[in-house]
Parts: sequence; C-alpha cells; structure tokens
Amino acid sequence: MKLLDLFCGAGGASAGYAAAGFEVHGVDLKHGKQYPYTYVRADVLDVLRDKNYLDQFDVIHASPPCQTHSITQHLRNAQGKTTSKLDLIPETRAALIESGKPYIIENVPGSPLINPIQLCGSSFGLKVRRHRLFESNLQLLGSVCLHNEQGRPVGVYGSLRDNIPNGGKTAESIDEARLAMGIPWAIRSELVEAIPPAYTFWLGKQIIDLI
Ligand SMILES: C[S@@+](CC[C@H](N)C(=O)[O-])C[C@H]1O[C@@H](n2cnc3c(N)ncnc32)[C@H](O)[C@@H]1O
Repeated sequence: MKLLDLFCGAGGASAGYAAAGFEVHGVDLKHGKQYPYTYVRADVLDVLRDKNYLDQFDVIHASPPCQTHSITQHLRNAQGKTTSKLDLIPETRAALIESGKPYIIENVPGSPLINPIQLCGSSFGLKVRRHRLFESNLQLLGSVCLHNEQGRPVGVYGSLRDNIPNGGKTAESIDEARLAMGIPWAIRSELVEAIPPAYTFWLGKQIIDLI
C-alpha cells in the first residue's frame, strides 16, 4: 500500500510508516538530502490541489508546521519574538476530506485538531516524551504514558545540555538526540521538528488492519 507523507521533513513519520509496511512518498519545500524514501520537493498546498496525483495513494499523512500552537511559540511570544503564524491545519484538513482518502493530521498539544488521539515517547520505550496529537477519519488508538517507567526524559528541542524546568535535560549531544528519537540520519534542526518513527509504526500497523 502507498502512503503520502505531506510536510515530510527529515522523514521521522515516514520511517515508521515504511517499517509498518507502506511504500512511502514524501513532499516538503526543503530539499530533503537525507530523506530515505521517494521525495518530491513542492508546496503541499499545490500538491493537495492535484487530485490525479493524490489518487495513487491509499493513505495520506500530514504534519503541517506547528509554530503557531507550540509551547515554544508561546514562549517566543512572551519574549516578544516573532515567527511565522501561518496555520496550515484548516486548509490541509479541508483538502484531505475532499480527497476522500483515509488521512492522519499530526500536530502539537494545544493545536486545533478534531477528536485527536495522543502518543507519548514513554509508551514506546523512548527517552523523549514528545506528546503529539493525531486526528484521523479512521478509529485509531492512542498510547498510555509511562512517565514513571521512563524516568528522566531527554528533551530534543532548544539547545543541547539545557535543564528542563519540570525535570530532565535536553540531549547532551546530537547522537543522544538521534537515539532518543530513533532517527539516526537527521540533523539537529530536523530532529527538533520530527516525530519518532515509533509513533507512525504504531499508527501504520493499525491503519493496515483497518483499510
Ligand atoms: C513539523 S515538520 C515535519 C516533520 C516530519 N513529520 C518528521 O517527522 O520528520 C514541518 C515541515 O513542513 C515543511 N513545510 C512548511 N510549509 C510547507 C509547505 N507549504 N509545503 C511543503 N512543506 C512545507 C517544512 O519544511 C518542515 O520540514
């Protein structure tokens, strides 16, 4: 089965779907030199208007940029710093519904997803927590947090070797960050934006059973 990963970045989400059994194609504006699957460099909003292109896929996943809703953005706002406030979630959702395909939209806690499930790195034996929400027109199962079992988490954001206010630390090194996320090929700026492949492996297995 073929899965289209929109806003694919370095391919954290793509890797989990591939491991679950999908042939994965990714679309992103940035040149994904290390992206491990078939890659198209394009604006997702243009791709979403191309019905013939979308028709070749069985499932579509989208990870629209999340700066508008993320906790780090709220911090930047409080510090008076500005970044793009573009929210691509509504437009992406409308086009995915229009496509008639099974779809998944991933975003950060606090984003306006509809009836999302949540996944946590602690559920998958990872050192990151990285709570992420997933909206879908399929009935997908979320995961149960195992924070106590996980112990001190490793953060993959901000700068290296920083204290996290409620316990834990950001990664000591790029290698520790890659290991914590399960994405050994990504550079730091990509890791900060990615989701662990373990999340989409979990979802991908469910999707294969459902469609
Ligand atoms: C949150 S990251 C995706 C991370 C990815 N899901 C992963 O797990 O590695 C969002 C990505 O959207 C891309 N992007 C932002 N606006 C875009 C657009 N209009 N068309 C294509 N890509 C876009 C950025 O280049 C960035 O790589």
